[in-house]
Amino acid sequence: MAARTPVAEVALADLERDPHPVLRALRREHAAVWVPALDGWMVLTRDAVLAAMRDDAALTVDDPRFSTGRITGPSMLSTDGPEHDRHRRPFARPFRLDAVRAALGPAADRAATRLVDAVADRGAADLRAALAGPLAAEMMLIALGLDGPGTGDVLGWYAQIVDAVTRITAGEADPPEGHAAYRALGDAIRASLAADAGGETLLAAALADAADLAEDELVANAAVLLFGGVETTEGMVANLLHHLLAEPGLIERVAADEALAAGAIEESLRMEPAAAVVDRYATRDLEIGTARIRAGDLVVLSMASANRDETVFDDPDRFDPGRANARLHTTFAAGPHVCLGMHLARIEAHAALRALAGLPGLRADPAAPSAPTGLVFRKPAAVAALWDPA
Ligand code: HEM
Repeated sequence: MAARTPVAEVALADLERDPHPVLRALRREHAAVWVPALDGWMVLTRDAVLAAMRDDAALTVDDPRFSTGRITGPSMLSTDGPEHDRHRRPFARPFRLDAVRAALGPAADRAATRLVDAVADRGAADLRAALAGPLAAEMMLIALGLDGPGTGDVLGWYAQIVDAVTRITAGEADPPEGHAAYRALGDAIRASLAADAGGETLLAAALADAADLAEDELVANAAVLLFGGVETTEGMVANLLHHLLAEPGLIERVAADEALAAGAIEESLRMEPAAAVVDRYATRDLEIGTARIRAGDLVVLSMASANRDETVFDDPDRFDPGRANARLHTTFAAGPHVCLGMHLARIEAHAALRALAGLPGLRADPAAPSAPTGLVFRKPAAVAALWDPA
């Protein structure tokens, strides 16, 4: 069988640390390349990434290699075509912008304000640990009605499931703790549904349109919402704060101006997508640019690369909160799997900035500079900030 070309001998460690110089060089030559270290193709240009996301007949998520599905069973994340519509449809209405804003906007502001107030008199904090992480987790627990006395348990199960998925992705056998944690989470989700059949939570609102879903399927999709909403949103807010603290005075200006904040949020989503790539599997032979992809091949779509495509974004490596076309980023995907939680995620980012506007002299801690890292999920390990305590 002919070798796969064009080929890029890229080290995973480089993609993990700072993929952007590598991706820039590859993107200049190719729309897609074979990356032996990934045992898959990587799609690089914005046009090619968007076309791939929209073509779920040729490039599917429905493959046994997809690791989350091995724990949760089928959900909207692991199906395509009519099956995917069936799984996703009940959640479409509760997650629309107007619905999410009404249901969760005030709760996001309350949560962000409480988290910032808790550290305000210290004059220093890691804003990922103090704000981005707990805000993302708390909002998803509220959305799913899991914010009661068992919150700590839910987050423990969540961590065990994420660990199991990571181990399966690395080629290890399914760890039994992951399945046990998923069963416990499923029971909590069932209890939330039973307690709130009237529709206060987004999950209960979905129930109104969920006649086509069995209870196990509803639970799988609720779990997928939890996975989709915690790690990525923590990363989104941490990356935003990393970008805004990089230039003295910027975060204070942006936090005080909603329009500038909206631009800065989109620009940060473009510069450093918290989920840098998504995986697809080719259902048939196809070509992307000069790449000849074979049926069964793994095809990794790089939003990190597409978002810095120089044919779309001028001077793409520069963070510009006023950039007119920042919203053309691909960070929330496109096509049938376009992110269901994007409106909620943006509401949380705005809430975080509004809460931080109350900290005078907010600035980066020069002793601990932050930098996003990670192969799939990219965020800084910490975002150390200082301010003038009242
Ligand atoms: C409240 C927060 C969020 C929730 C509840 C959420 C939920 C979801 C769900 C349920 C899906 C699957 C949709 C489907 O397959 O039909 C999805 C897809 C996706 N989400 Fe989100 N998400 C959130 C935040 C984010 C953030 C902050 C990012 C990136 C910065 C992100 C990136 C993505 C991407 C790239 C996909 C597409 C996955 C694929 O095509 O394989 N999400 N999201």
